[in-house]
Amino acid sequence: MPSKMRAGIVGVGVGIPEQVLTNHDLERRLDTSDEWIVTRTGIRERRIAPPHVATSDLAAQAAMQALRNAGKTPDEVDLIMVATATPDMPWPATACLVQAKIGASHAAAFDLNAVCSGFVYALWVAAQAVETGAYRCVLVIGADILSRQLNWEDRSTCVLFGDGAGAAVLVPVEEPYGVLSGVLGADGTGAPLLQVPAGGTREPITPEVLAQKRHTVYMRGREVFKFAVTIMGEVSLQALEKAGIPPEEVSLFIPHQANIRIIQAAAERLNLPMERVFVNLERYGNTSAASIPIALYEAWEGGRLRKGDVVVVVGFGAGLTWGACVLRWAY
Ligand code: ACO
Repeated sequence: MPSKMRAGIVGVGVGIPEQVLTNHDLERRLDTSDEWIVTRTGIRERRIAPPHVATSDLAAQAAMQALRNAGKTPDEVDLIMVATATPDMPWPATACLVQAKIGASHAAAFDLNAVCSGFVYALWVAAQAVETGAYRCVLVIGADILSRQLNWEDRSTCVLFGDGAGAAVLVPVEEPYGVLSGVLGADGTGAPLLQVPAGGTREPITPEVLAQKRHTVYMRGREVFKFAVTIMGEVSLQALEKAGIPPEEVSLFIPHQANIRIIQAAAERLNLPMERVFVNLERYGNTSAASIPIALYEAWEGGRLRKGDVVVVVGFGAGLTWGACVLRWAY
């Protein structure tokens, strides 16, 4: 009997702006300190996209690198999903702009918005598309330029985020490799905890909206923190149970890079030592949907992912949303 086909990641790539903004740079323009930011979050610096760069530019760069690493060409791609909360424009989808930029002329293309959980949402949806045989080469991209949606006078939010993109190429692979399980969730009653209130149909942009900066990120940080500390561990355990894998078999845990204290709490819940947890938030801050694919790329590039390793990716974000996938690394 032929073995079951799953969706496996066979190439990863990144698009990361060069400009670095350190905590010390922020100290010079805000009432904050490197010490406060590092102790509360773990973040030391973040990348900021220059004004002429849009989300699709970073996404296309990540996509091309992921395709090269997968040994695939753009015309082999049949589906592009871009997880983003900061599209180039309200419409068309950033995924269509990426499709044109990389010349993936045979690909369908759409965006998915689950904010910081976006990559995990897209990965799990894309895995179904590949497993059913409907698509054979899917580009899953997480890309955000949060720096354009921040109120740079609000120290409680602007120090947390950074810009970037990461991409993964998904193709059919034979068992036991590939995406083994996924769990996604949402609680829309938590929408007010973390949002960009204006700029959509509820509150279109007006001079008043701009003056009050309601087109920027609003966050009730402490409440988001409480939610995140619980959900990251819980959803990871649910996804592991669905895959039939005990937590002690996890080779590498790759959480959304928002806050080191949230990551440590999740690792504790799984009883995982920090050596098996990937952390790069000190260099990038929270890059929203890009944080997990950037981490995947750096883990792979740094030799921390080997074929057969059990990997858990887990995210949480505005919505509220959350999700985790368990993978057996396929390349
Ligand atoms: N520098 C110095 N002081 C600050 C700063 C800053 N950058 N920001 C806030 N403070 C002050 C506050 O004003 C407050 O002062 P007060 O006590 O005089 O009022 C004090 O520091 C403590 O503020 P808290 O908000 O209670 O600090 P807390 O320990 O909760 O840490 C933080 C704040 C880091 C934001 C934390 O709540 C957190 O990480 N929350 C989760 C945020 C998150 O992960 N968001 C991303 C979600 S993903 C997505 O979808 C976008």
